[in-house]
Amino acid sequence: MEALTGASPAMMPPSGPAGQGTFYIETFGCQMNDHDSEKVAGVLLRRGYGQAASPADAQVVLYNTCSIREKAAQKVYSRLGLFNPKNNLLDATDKIIGILGCVAQQEGQRIFERAPWVSLVCGSASYSKLPAMLEQIEAGERRVTGLETDTEETFETELTRRDHPLRAYVTIIEGCDKTCTYCVVPRTRGPERSRTSASILREVRELADVGYTEVQLLGQTVNSYRDPSSRGLRFAELLVAVAETPGIRRVRFTTSHPSDLDAATIAAMDSVPQICDHLHLPVQSGSTRVLRAMQRTYTREEYMQKIEMVRAARRPISITTDIIVGFPGETEEDFEETLSLLDLAQFDGIFSFRYSPRPHTPAATMAGPVPEEERGRRLALLQERQRAIQTARNESLVGQTFEVLVEGASRRENQWTGRTSSNRTLNFTSPRSGLLGEYVLVRVTQAGPNSLAGEQAF
Ligand code: 5AD
Ligand code: SF4
Repeated sequence: MEALTGASPAMMPPSGPAGQGTFYIETFGCQMNDHDSEKVAGVLLRRGYGQAASPADAQVVLYNTCSIREKAAQKVYSRLGLFNPKNNLLDATDKIIGILGCVAQQEGQRIFERAPWVSLVCGSASYSKLPAMLEQIEAGERRVTGLETDTEETFETELTRRDHPLRAYVTIIEGCDKTCTYCVVPRTRGPERSRTSASILREVRELADVGYTEVQLLGQTVNSYRDPSSRGLRFAELLVAVAETPGIRRVRFTTSHPSDLDAATIAAMDSVPQICDHLHLPVQSGSTRVLRAMQRTYTREEYMQKIEMVRAARRPISITTDIIVGFPGETEEDFEETLSLLDLAQFDGIFSFRYSPRPHTPAATMAGPVPEEERGRRLALLQERQRAIQTARNESLVGQTFEVLVEGASRRENQWTGRTSSNRTLNFTSPRSGLLGEYVLVRVTQAGPNSLAGEQAF
């Protein structure tokens, strides 16, 4: 199911080499990219393009790319190989091929050299100029770039094509001002820019008007949000304002930086039931020495103080995290500290990654690279330790009843799947039909490391 939100579009007939005016967009990477693609699709629809189901059927083919971890650039070049005349697979003549996102930003003009059939290379910090770039391309220009990152603009669209039927993403802050030494994002997405609270709240009201009840606020460091307008809302105040929008029942937000997590945010989560009881708080390492080399701006102890602040809330808040193993110079003792942090913090979920050197980042040239095999060993140990923790935490929920938003039906009759406010997947049985998109109460009867099972409670 797709939904369109935004001012009702006055469709313009596409012109120029786009011909019949259809586009295809494929997205790699994070939720920010998924949502950027929804906005880019909105810009194209607003210009009168229709969406095609495959690159073969489209006049405009866009790849929205990711470079945060390994081999992302290669993946893009392999997609581009589809259009290489030598391969005789897809014909790029009369097509406009564009590369968007982090690989576009990092590779820049090199993309034209390696794949001369590409005509648009645009990083996310330049998306606000996309309509103008499309105009240039429609007028017949074959090489158009948007590669500046030095911008104060955010990507505002009149129309956003929404892919998720139940959850709507809303970017509140773009870019990143942190300087984590392993990360490409500050280079690929540019400096931090917050949207005005008026623009965000207008978008949330429009989403509620078309029936969305769950919104997810997005930003690389979502909680460093600072309203640039004279209202000057802080993150916690914005969160409450979004949650109080009539019709909105669930507000999620990601990703929070530990250094920017304040008591006001926890207090807001505690007192406003629409704000979901889940916090994604990447720690990256349990060793203060490694955290310092990563320039994460907090120590192990400071991170644990934030966790304690969250655990002291009146309602239980689920905490998930990101962890990198095998950062350059990470010793066995450092890694042991990460393992012991798992025991201390008792995360409800982790995303774990082996360190991968990213071009032009300070960590890429740091001494003491950890061999690939050792990174793999540490990753497996970490995942094993966390699996046991998650199993125990989930088992403690058996017998409790949670409200879930029903997100899917299983092929098996009477089987549904939904999510709790704490972002756990809860598969359940119900004699009722037509539950998709409904909020129902479910009693947990079984628990595994990654999901819960239960039955609808009446
Ligand atoms: N190597 C491995 N993992 C990385 N991440 C970011 N950069 C790297 C890298 N160079 C991980 C971090 C971040 C998540 C989105 O991706 O854990 O929080
Ligand atoms: Fe990358 Fe650090 Fe910014 Fe997150 S906070 S996007 S890890 S630089």
